[in-house]
Amino acid sequence: MEFAELLHARRSVRSFEQRPIEAAKLKTILELTNLAPSAGNLQAYEIYQVSASKVRAALAHAANQPFVAQAPLTLVFFANPGRSARKFGTRGRSLYAIQDATIAATYAMLAIGTVGLGTVWVGAFDDAGVTRAVNAPDDWIPVAMLPIGYAAEAPAPTERRNLDELVHVL
Ligand SMILES: Cc1cc2nc3c(=O)[nH]c(=O)nc-3n(C[C@H](O)[C@H](O)[C@H](O)COP(=O)(O)O)c2cc1C
Repeated sequence: MEFAELLHARRSVRSFEQRPIEAAKLKTILELTNLAPSAGNLQAYEIYQVSASKVRAALAHAANQPFVAQAPLTLVFFANPGRSARKFGTRGRSLYAIQDATIAATYAMLAIGTVGLGTVWVGAFDDAGVTRAVNAPDDWIPVAMLPIGYAAEAPAPTERRNLDELVHVL
């Protein structure tokens, strides 16, 4: 799929078929994700690949969003602030690690579309609940979850602000 076409076609999907995800598709998603840029190329983020149903249920509970458990697979992106702080100090800890994780999750979200699967960015959750669910270190910050599966819905496009309002031309 052409890149612009992918961006136009992407929708947040919150209903999934129970069909499993092929290993080759998951591999493609993760390899494309790993191409994301990061500050100093430090990749100050970590990814949990969750298919265990107990953990998926715990993630859905932490987000209070039951559809998360319906997806056969969820990727959870954490910022690893210490990894960026070693080179960039406070800016690495408080900003770059979050940006690294966010960009990687964005790459993943778009990569998921390229292999014909659906996802939605889930950012509303209890941080401690997500950390506990995957048993991550306390100093990593959960940034986003991407529940992934074959879409069981075809959502309509959502509105966007007008560029005239959004872009401040100087
Ligand atoms: C930072 C962020 C947090 C979000 N958190 C949630 C969430 O917790 N649950 C959810 O269902 N959708 C969540 N979304 C998805 C947005 O609601 C969705 O992207 C937006 O409504 C536009 O719809 P579209 O993705 O179909 O274009 C989040 C999106 C972003 C970027």
